[in-house]
Amino acid sequence: MPKLWTGVTAGNTSALADDFNSSIRFDKRMFRQDIEGSMAHAAMLASRHILSDEDRDSIIAGLAGILQDLQDGTLAVDEQAEDIHMFVEQVLTERIGEAGKRLHTARSRNDQVALDLRMYLRGECDEITALIKKVLEALADLADANKDTIMPGYTHLQRAQPVSFGHYMMAYAMMLLRDLDRLKDCRRRINISPIGCCALAGTTYDTDRRMEAELLGFDDICLNSMDGVSDRDFAVELMGDISILMMHLSRMAEELILWASWEFQFISISDAFTTGSSIMPQKRNADMAELIRGKTGRVYGDLMGLLTTLKGLPLAYNKDMQEDKEGVFDACDTVKMCLQILAPMLATITVRKEKMMEAAQKGFINATDLADWLVKKGMSFRSAYKISGQIVSMCMEKGSVLESVPLEEYRKYSDLFDETIYQAIDLKVCMEKRISEGGTSAASVEKQIAAVRSVLR
Ligand code: ARG
Repeated sequence: MPKLWTGVTAGNTSALADDFNSSIRFDKRMFRQDIEGSMAHAAMLASRHILSDEDRDSIIAGLAGILQDLQDGTLAVDEQAEDIHMFVEQVLTERIGEAGKRLHTARSRNDQVALDLRMYLRGECDEITALIKKVLEALADLADANKDTIMPGYTHLQRAQPVSFGHYMMAYAMMLLRDLDRLKDCRRRINISPIGCCALAGTTYDTDRRMEAELLGFDDICLNSMDGVSDRDFAVELMGDISILMMHLSRMAEELILWASWEFQFISISDAFTTGSSIMPQKRNADMAELIRGKTGRVYGDLMGLLTTLKGLPLAYNKDMQEDKEGVFDACDTVKMCLQILAPMLATITVRKEKMMEAAQKGFINATDLADWLVKKGMSFRSAYKISGQIVSMCMEKGSVLESVPLEEYRKYSDLFDETIYQAIDLKVCMEKRISEGGTSAASVEKQIAAVRSVLR
């Protein structure tokens, strides 16, 4: 493909340099954004009489034809081209002649590539948002079905207090709600148009940047042309948001792996998302969850990569910035794959309530409730805490549990004890009594589910 930039250079770069310089292998995925951007550019130029109406019509029709042909595969992207912008312009000129050469008036690839990337990434924000909502739906359904399913809640991975499995699921839902919010906020900053900043300094043509931005669905325009062409904050920010999202998915994945293990057996993951071992026939490996956990590392790498690329870059555009795309595309592709697999995996897990209950019954997760009962009878919390600890130690030695300590034994520790203690340390009661807002009681979980579902509606 002939080079469109042979000004003072001869354009006889070595094949190696051409290949090194080229970004078409990864920027070709922005062909739609590039073409739509060019259509708007032609419309704007004509509205300001920089381009004739005739040329505009021929450019827009030519671009529409290229878009159509790329979509249905009759036109293949030529990987010898330098990038998607050059490729589209070249094909356009081949198809419509002179008018094609007028399209690049009052713009540069520097503002063009920033425009395309912003358009592409706002679409990614929308897709990721829709996929998060699918996971939220699965979490809300699981929570709804398990508002009364008792399991041990942990701190330090030590059994701590009883919680419902529904409450647990809602904890993850809250993280994802924040992720939705972050993406929405990020999209606001992505959706600012850089087109018309040109190479770096703006242009002498009487352009209408706001019209062009509006045609392309942008909320506003970048106010400084040098910043407009060199700003990649939006890509860093999106990867930051995706990294936090992946961190959430990774934590969830880790719990799914643990819970599906023989040691916990709290859930089983459906066969559709479980693999076997090539040597050990008994194995049910949670490979999908492990991959979600594993892929989190590469997304963090993508984020660090772009931050490092941008660090210390002088204004305005530098070729280094071509390195922005692969990482951010990879982060988006990766998180979308993870979300796509997580939603049906969650929707099809089997919750083994009996195993959760069994674990809840061991580990003295009602010890806090024992102390709280004494406090309600008038004892100070510190004294009650101490006595409860002594009773737990005694049970540990004897291999028994708080529920089976006889009343006369309890009374050796404090004469405040009466038979209502058994009701107070019943696990179901312990859970249901946690009625504080945001607590694990079924009523509180219902409120949380309602909040999640109102976002989904
Ligand atoms: N392929 C380039 C990129 O992705 C497009 C911008 C090139 N501009 C330039 N002046 N070389 O960043």
